Amino acid sequence: MPAVSTFPDTQDAAARAICAQHGNRPDALLEILHETQSQFGFLSDDALKAIAHALNISRAEIHGVVTFYHDFRREAPPGHVIRLCRAEACQAVGAEALAHHAEKRLAGNPSVGLEAVYCLGNCALGPAALVDGELKARLTPAAFDALVAELEAKA
Ligand code: FES
Repeated sequence: MPAVSTFPDTQDAAARAICAQHGNRPDALLEILHETQSQFGFLSDDALKAIAHALNISRAEIHGVVTFYHDFRREAPPGHVIRLCRAEACQAVGAEALAHHAEKRLAGNPSVGLEAVYCLGNCALGPAALVDGELKARLTPAAFDALVAELEAKA
């Protein structure tokens, strides 16, 4: 006989509480999704089911909203995030080659996420990146690997 948990799913309970704070109003869907995601870092299936039920709207409607806005995550975020600048000034000093190197280096690594950004205001010191929110300048593939090794050691 399979074990049955008597504990409510925390995202499910949190999502219902957030919906209640907004009076279970369907027009508050975006705010509810943002607040739910800010608590957990992503939107689980259980959270979306709870929101659909509380707001009395279809899961297809919620799915449409969640997939339309790129800020919403459907999976738990990685522990670390590298945002690599892909804009023109950084491209001129090797950002594209660095991005290819980074993609290969991080392939299959669930603990470090790689995202593209388009200008970090550090154009004179490219290629630039934000590593867990900290600005890094003049990145080379070797410097990138050293940063990743530091992040992996912290994971
Ligand atoms: S173009 Fe990369 S920081 Fe501005």
